[in-house]
Amino acid sequence: MKNFKSHYPKLKPNLLIAISLVLIVACNEKNITAKKSETLSLKEAFKNEFVIGAAVNDQLIFEEDSLGAKLAKEEFNTITPENSMKWMYMEPQQGVFEFETADRYIDFSTKNNIAFIGHNLVWHSQLAEWVKKITSKEELNASLKNHVQTIAARYTGKIHGWDVVNEALNEDGTLRNSLFLEKLGPDYLVNSFKWAEEADPKAELYYNDYNMTRKEKRAGAIELVKMLQKNGARVDGIGMQAHWGLTDPTLEEIETSILAYADLGIQVMITEFDITVLPNPWDLEGAEVSQNFEGSEEMNPYTKKLPDSVSTLLAKRYKDIFSIFKKHSDKISRVTFWGINDGVSWLNNWPIENRTNYPLLFDREYNKKPAYYGVLEVATDSTL
Ligand code: XIL
Repeated sequence: MKNFKSHYPKLKPNLLIAISLVLIVACNEKNITAKKSETLSLKEAFKNEFVIGAAVNDQLIFEEDSLGAKLAKEEFNTITPENSMKWMYMEPQQGVFEFETADRYIDFSTKNNIAFIGHNLVWHSQLAEWVKKITSKEELNASLKNHVQTIAARYTGKIHGWDVVNEALNEDGTLRNSLFLEKLGPDYLVNSFKWAEEADPKAELYYNDYNMTRKEKRAGAIELVKMLQKNGARVDGIGMQAHWGLTDPTLEEIETSILAYADLGIQVMITEFDITVLPNPWDLEGAEVSQNFEGSEEMNPYTKKLPDSVSTLLAKRYKDIFSIFKKHSDKISRVTFWGINDGVSWLNNWPIENRTNYPLLFDREYNKKPAYYGVLEVATDSTL
């Protein structure tokens, strides 16, 4: 009888081990990838592509929302204040600046090594009432200059970039008839960028707006940036607020827009990213914060839970969009979500108050949603 053992005294155990290992690895390859993904944070997963951010609120910064703060530190390497650095909070009375809260945001980001994006210096919305009452051109110009420069100067060296001007365009690409345009003309745009640069030469300076994937508005935004550059203002990037839906804008519109903005030779940033899953009154597009509508049951269909079918659609939509971001990651420097989790999203209250929306990657209990894994798959899948 052949001695199996004596014939293959050394080879056999080694060979068996080798074969078993190959089999184990092959069978578990899928699981291993999944497990690896679970341990990767968003910021690590996309570290070679772009920084990943979220808008944060006061509860998080003051660590009253400790789970939110933990998540911000773990998953994101850039943050944007959702509301607290807007004009009405920073300079509620003429010449009276409230820095306390903003300082806490900056401290949070510095302490946790998170890049800070200031939002925003010049915007027609969430403006202090006193500004709207100014009648003289000279006074408005001086007030605008003082606002931009006082705030920009305070955070020199602590801020990565500023949304200098927010939403200065109409849907047809013409300049929005804000009180700034009305009284100061297009000079207010050039001056705001120049004043910001003068006060904080180190910070990057951005133009930020919604519906930036629409043809006319895109043309207007490109024209606006060229006008600023021609007049000697430095613009470092364009922010595409991405308040999008499950089907709109199309992937093609998104890609075309990224390429068109990148052609300006400046950074493209996806800012304010969220995807509504709720019905849209009157097929409303964009993010005009002053538009509000009456609620009804029909407009708020998922009060208890998001159906799995919609959750799957959302995950696919996020995955498809992130595949485009990854494809053009040489042009995109940042992707920022508008909020940390579904529970704090502004889309629970806009454009209809008191709805239950599910637009982000983390649910109300701060758990990762299928949408999160959809996004992470883009990072880990080398074929995408
Ligand atoms: C929103 C905030 O998320 C809300 O909490 C607030 O009530 C209104 O403003 N475009 C912008 C953001 O540039 O500042 C807006 O943020 C959303 C649309």
